[in-house]
Amino acid sequence: MFETIASIILTVSMTLFWGIASIAAAGLPYSKSNQSLKNRINFSIWTGGAALLLSAMWYATIIGQLVMSGCLFAEGTIKTLIPLTLVPQLYLAVTILPRLKSLRESGGEPPTQAALRTVAHPSVPLSFYAAALASVISAFSTVFAQPILPSPFEIAQRFMLVALILLVPAIFARRRYLKVIRGEQLQCGFVVRLLNLAVAGILTAVVAIAILVSNVLVGVNASKLPEASDMMNHERIDEGGGSATQISGYSDHHNHQQHYVNNQTGTVEVAALTGNISDPADVKFELVAQRKKITLASGAVIDAWTFNGEIAPELRVKHGDMVEVKLINKDIDSGATIHWHGYNVPNAMDGVPGMTQNVVKPGQSFTYKFRADQEGTYWFHSHQQAAEQVVKGLFGTLIVEPKQDAETFDEQFTVINHRWMTDQGYKHAIGKHDVLQWKQVKPGKRVKLRIINTHNQSQKYLLQGTEFRIASIDGIRIQDPQPLSDQTAYRLGSGGRYDVVFTMPDHPVFFKLGDYKNVSNPGITFYTETPPEKPIFKAESALFDPSDYGKPVANDVTAATLKFDREFQMILGNEMGFYNGKFHFLWTINGEVYPRVPTLVVKEGDKVKTTFVNKSLTEHPMHLHGHHMTVLKKNGVKVKTPWLTDTLSVLPGESYEVAFIANNPGMWMDHCHNLDHAATGMILHLMYDNVRSSYEVGTRSGNLPD
Ligand code: C2O
Ligand code: CU
Repeated sequence: MFETIASIILTVSMTLFWGIASIAAAGLPYSKSNQSLKNRINFSIWTGGAALLLSAMWYATIIGQLVMSGCLFAEGTIKTLIPLTLVPQLYLAVTILPRLKSLRESGGEPPTQAALRTVAHPSVPLSFYAAALASVISAFSTVFAQPILPSPFEIAQRFMLVALILLVPAIFARRRYLKVIRGEQLQCGFVVRLLNLAVAGILTAVVAIAILVSNVLVGVNASKLPEASDMMNHERIDEGGGSATQISGYSDHHNHQQHYVNNQTGTVEVAALTGNISDPADVKFELVAQRKKITLASGAVIDAWTFNGEIAPELRVKHGDMVEVKLINKDIDSGATIHWHGYNVPNAMDGVPGMTQNVVKPGQSFTYKFRADQEGTYWFHSHQQAAEQVVKGLFGTLIVEPKQDAETFDEQFTVINHRWMTDQGYKHAIGKHDVLQWKQVKPGKRVKLRIINTHNQSQKYLLQGTEFRIASIDGIRIQDPQPLSDQTAYRLGSGGRYDVVFTMPDHPVFFKLGDYKNVSNPGITFYTETPPEKPIFKAESALFDPSDYGKPVANDVTAATLKFDREFQMILGNEMGFYNGKFHFLWTINGEVYPRVPTLVVKEGDKVKTTFVNKSLTEHPMHLHGHHMTVLKKNGVKVKTPWLTDTLSVLPGESYEVAFIANNPGMWMDHCHNLDHAATGMILHLMYDNVRSSYEVGTRSGNLPD
């Protein structure tokens, strides 16, 4: 983050100095006396020198980033932008500036013909222009189009851009040079020069605009999503450096339809991946997707899209139950599905329209059935146009109680925090409560808060008045969680869950969303006898760190000596660009958005490692369907306590190494759970090489899984 800001400041100031130096250099041939030539040369040298110094500082920043954050953070800049700026700068430093220096003479006589020829030579102004242009492109790229894993073409592209834009200035410089050679007097009149400049400027702008417009047209068209496509991204697959998969073995990429029926290859259909559901259901639920006006505690009204007309209805089952949930769509026109977030159900039950099922349109239904074989705090939500549907309320909670709990709790609260669009503007709320709540709990009682962040942004929480423990992360229990002081704040990325437990003391305990200073944020005051007048919070002194908490998870991917079958990289970036024909500020994975991000292909049983690197300007909660990831390293260093997560928040400047065993065959989404980011393409897929899906995505089928 710091490097990004420093890079922006440095490249912008480089641009400024190279720009001034360019103007000075272009004026050299107009000098009437040796003295004015000398002054102008000095000015060019000083401003150029300052620009060189700034460039050196920028290079140092990038090298610093390389050393501090690692190769993946700096690679794109080093391969793409540094050569672009370095080439003209080196040429200037080694050739042009020394040549100019040698021309400095004092005296009032007009400069010699030889001196004029030297300064009028097109290489002089053009190398300054090129340096200035390279700085502009670097500044722009740093903010808007970070180069990530650049191909040789992308590296060459920026050089071609500079060459194209310099075409007109080159013609003008050459014309001027020829005049000087012929011994003609250059027009020094202010008006004439200004006119000349204006013509050159306008023509250059025309070239630049033409390049821009053609890029926009190409970008808009290339970004349009097809009306219908399957999820098998044959053109772009990433096998993570592992052994060849069935997918890569395909010879005919465009006619893969035939492989669906080719049972000799042992491929299976997503729809067949239901797991064993022959046993009768132990519990049955019905969820009716419907529009409903809901009034929050403050009186603010939401035009909500709900399940069963409620905010976050709860499905509570016992570990081991066979669960059946019938989704009925009453009046959600775009259709709905249910995705069991973090619950590693068999693929056919994962609820991704166009990949694991067809979207459920109004009047239709779909029945999900799965064995509840993970206990813990989970949630579910529609995966059809999730950026709209989840925000509007199509979600609920899935609480799987242990068969037997070593620890019992007297009071359990599910704390689901969401941001609603109401008739009074945006409101944060816990359930229906966009205001403070009071709850009486007897001293000595054991309390469990199941906290679920369903909002698109990460959320900070405070619990004060007693020490507490974080008993589970993303539904998975922490072994031996140590007590945390009540001045420890904790944070959940979008989609993440913590179970927080404490024993009620004989005085109040205060829970709230957000900063201690925002006293009006929703929160819960737990009191024993008489409710206190108002909650009282103090500033936190620490932030909970899951990488050093409880006992480390030890599983099939934590062994230090483990050799992974496949290793993937996901560099998270940002870029101005187009998605489905519209201009957007895009959040990218490896420099691309869906559907151009390669599909990760694995074989069942593979041990898979993924490295997340966040080069972008904001946080991304990365969510993999169907698997929990074990976090192994943070910022290049082994974490003290590897932990399991299904939604890992990666902050700007951070990197994580996570791993999982490919033990749940299917086609799975892997995406940012800031659903606005996913809606403009921050999505990719994880695919088992023997799995095929015959569902289609796009407007034709109405399956819109983002
Ligand atoms: Cu909670 Cu793919 O999402
Ligand atoms: Cu994101």
